[in-house]
Amino acid sequence: MAIIRVTNLTKKFKDLVAVDDINLEIEEGECFGLLGPNGAGKTSIIRMITAVSPPSRGDIWVDGRELRKHPREVKAILGVIPQTDNLDEDLTVIQNLTTFARYFAIPREVAYQRSVEILNSMALEGKRDSKIDELSGGMKRRLLIGRGLVNAPKIIILDEPSIGLDPQARHMVWRKLKELKSQGITQLLCTQNMEEAARLCDRVAIIHQGRIIDIDTPQAFVTRYMSNRVWEIDVTSDERDSIMRELERRQLEFEEFAGIIHVFPKDDSLVEGLPGVARAATLEDVFFKLTGRSLVE
Ligand SMILES: Nc1ncnc2c1ncn2[C@@H]1O[C@H](COP(=O)(O)OP(=O)(O)OP(=O)(O)O)[C@@H](O)[C@H]1O
Ligand SMILES: [Mg+2]
Repeated sequence: MAIIRVTNLTKKFKDLVAVDDINLEIEEGECFGLLGPNGAGKTSIIRMITAVSPPSRGDIWVDGRELRKHPREVKAILGVIPQTDNLDEDLTVIQNLTTFARYFAIPREVAYQRSVEILNSMALEGKRDSKIDELSGGMKRRLLIGRGLVNAPKIIILDEPSIGLDPQARHMVWRKLKELKSQGITQLLCTQNMEEAARLCDRVAIIHQGRIIDIDTPQAFVTRYMSNRVWEIDVTSDERDSIMRELERRQLEFEEFAGIIHVFPKDDSLVEGLPGVARAATLEDVFFKLTGRSLVE
C-alpha cells in the first residue's frame, strides 16, 4: 500500500489553478521527486501534503490516515524541510533544534542527544552556540534540513533541498539523504535540479503548469524519450542563422536555450559535418521535449 496517496488534488488561488487535479501514489521507502520549473506548482503540492495549506479539492492519505481528519498524527511522522528558511532568529543553532523537538513532545535528553548528532552529520558542530544571523546561507539551509530530522520522521518532505548550497555541501546533503533512504525512510522532494532528481529519486513526476505530465524512473525517462545522444552547438551570432538553416534543411529536431542549440538527432550520422559536440541525454532534455521549456530560465 502506498504511504502517500493523493487523489484529484487541486489548489486554486482566485482564478489561478496552481495544482490541477493531481493523482499520486508514493511507496514506502522510495525517494519520489517532483521535477518542474518555477511556478509549476511543486511547493503548493507539498504545502497541501504537509497540512500547511488546505486543498481546494481532493484527498490526501498519509501512512493510512486521511490528512484532513488526522493532521496532528500525520505531522508527527513527517519531517518537513520548507523552501524558505523559517529558523528562529532569537535562538542559537542548537536551540533551534531542541526547541523544535519540544513540539513533538520528545523528552529533553533525547532531544539534546539527537540535536548534537544532527549538527555533526550536517557539519555544523562548530556553530552549535551561534546565533542564526551568524550563519551563511548554506549553513542555514543545512540547519533547516537537520531540523526536519529532529522528530526521527518516517517520511521526509523536502522543498528544493540543495538550493543555495555549494557543491561540497550539496554532496553532503545528497549523501545524508541516501543514508536516510537506506534506513527505509520515504522521501518526497521537489527540485528543479535534474542532477539531483537523477541521483536521488527512484521515480520522478514531471510537473508543468500544475499538472503531472508523466511519471517514471529517471533512467526510463531518458531511454523512452531520448533515442540518441544530444548534439550541442555553441553558436556565435554571425554563424547562428546559417546553422539554423542547415538544421532545418536536414529536418532535425532542435531547441535553443541559454545560447546553445541542442539538436536531437535520431542518429549521430545526421549531424555529420556540423560544428558542436555530442553529449549524453539527460532528464533536462526529456523535460524540454515534454514541455518545450527548460527547467531553469
Ligand atoms: N499564496 C499564494 N497566493 C497566490 N498565488 C500563489 C500562492 N502560492 C503560489 N501561488 C502561485 O501558484 C503557482 C505555483 O506556485 P508554487 O510555489 O507552487 O510553484 P513551484 O513549482 O514551487 O515554483 P518554484 O520552483 O519557483 O518554487 C504560481 O503561479 C504562484 O504564483
Ligand atoms: Mg517552490
